[in-house]
Amino acid sequence: MNAIKKLWMLVLLIAVPAVATAGGAEFHLDKAPVDLEDKVSLQRGAKLFTSYCLSCHSASYMRYNRLMDLGMSEEQIKKDLLLPEGTKLGSTMQAAMDKEAAQQVYGVAPMDLSVIARSRTPDWLYTYMRGFYVDSSRPSGWNNVVFPSVAMPHILAELQGEQTLEVERYEGHEINKLVLAKPGSMGVAEYDATIADLVNYLVFMSEPAKLVRYKLGFIVLGFLFVLLMLVYALKKEIWKDIQH
Ligand code: HEC
Repeated sequence: MNAIKKLWMLVLLIAVPAVATAGGAEFHLDKAPVDLEDKVSLQRGAKLFTSYCLSCHSASYMRYNRLMDLGMSEEQIKKDLLLPEGTKLGSTMQAAMDKEAAQQVYGVAPMDLSVIARSRTPDWLYTYMRGFYVDSSRPSGWNNVVFPSVAMPHILAELQGEQTLEVERYEGHEINKLVLAKPGSMGVAEYDATIADLVNYLVFMSEPAKLVRYKLGFIVLGFLFVLLMLVYALKKEIWKDIQH
């Protein structure tokens, strides 16, 4: 009996995530071109994040001075990110909008985005930020292909323009397709590159120590290699005496 119960638990453990992904997989996720080595892209992403997202969302685990890891100077952080007067570089990124006020306006409080790239995947974020479409049945006037009935309005609409969702029939299947009905200030490629920078930054923010870890990994590997050579030389030395 106990064994059967355990088996069921195992089946459930395997089956539930499979069903969960099947439910969310209706719209194809585009691959986010994440590159944590690209400091210039990360800097552009940081600027976008502070100017477009911090009005509603916070990033409470992220301190402004962490941006120096991206090669930004104190002066640049203060000037380029238009920090409000009196903000200390050691302080965390707080939302301009009060949580309760935001909850009243949108019905949901905008969540902290510090580790969003870990709770959602980079591919999901890349598709989400490019997946808003006009929907007059929603209070904000916007809906999203990967987050149906989302409460967040399309913040970057002036850059991307307005998309509509069209249903296309293809060999008996119905495929949802986004169509750019009204262009924004950026072309499609430029907007995609902008979102790539933003997602790159969100990935960095969710794990700022990753860059340091990469470096450490190489140092450890190098050390092990040197050790291997020494041990090999030692082995040769010892066996030479034993064999002759
Ligand atoms: C006007 C306020 C506002 C701004 C500005 C804003 N958001 Fe949002 N955002 C929201 C609200 C409200 C939600 C909650 C949506 C829901 O649960 O239906 C949300 C949800 C999200 C989510 C989904 C989180 C999850 O896992 O459920 C992501 C990701 C996100 N926002 C990213 C961003 C990024 C990136 C920016 C900047 C480009 C941004 N938001 C700017 C209000 C805002």
